[in-house]
Amino acid sequence: MKRIAVLASGNGSNLQALINQLNVPSSPAEISLVVSNVASAHALTRGREAGIPTFFVPHEGKEDRQNHEKLLVQLLQEYETDFVCLAGFMRLLTHRFLSAYPQRVLNTHPSLLPSFPGKHAPEQALKAGVKMTGCTIHLVDEGIDTGPILAQAAVPVLENDNVSSLTSRIQSAEHQLYPHVARLFAQGHVHNKGPLFFLNGCSP
Ligand code: GAR
Repeated sequence: MKRIAVLASGNGSNLQALINQLNVPSSPAEISLVVSNVASAHALTRGREAGIPTFFVPHEGKEDRQNHEKLLVQLLQEYETDFVCLAGFMRLLTHRFLSAYPQRVLNTHPSLLPSFPGKHAPEQALKAGVKMTGCTIHLVDEGIDTGPILAQAAVPVLENDNVSSLTSRIQSAEHQLYPHVARLFAQGHVHNKGPLFFLNGCSP
């Protein structure tokens, strides 16, 4: 049984999807720790309600990044974390953190990377006028959404989409793809040399 730590800064809908689909009997992995850098993050409530050890680890600013990452690593090691899933964790990680979990930090991003990295990806897709966007599960490196791609799901941009409707459709795809990839990753079936796979829409 692999032990996953989830780092989240916001609503935590991806955390919830991971809990719902992995913390079940005979799963090869479980969410065993939830950490947020934002005190008001709904992800903290979701973790507590699921009975998972859940912590708020504040950061005090950029100059404190190394110390924040040191605290995160200590906590994750204390809870015997095998790998990490970022789920709306809105902070870049440096070598200090990533070297503790080499090739073992996953992230979900709401676009078909390398298109539309960074913040507001659905809005960027609408502004660019693309007809197809989606979500990407990738390994995390020190760049902004630049790590090796593990899996993607395509989501169409509809005629009268707005940011809210498109975000919601992309997140539905993330909620299916991320737990699926996390399960395969726990089983050793997904790594940065492939297999890369694509899923169409929301039905893996
Ligand atoms: C997700 O859509 C995730 O892809 C995005 O933040 C959202 C968090 O939602 N992450 C990024 O944009 C990272 N660059 P959630 O808190 O409901 O899971």
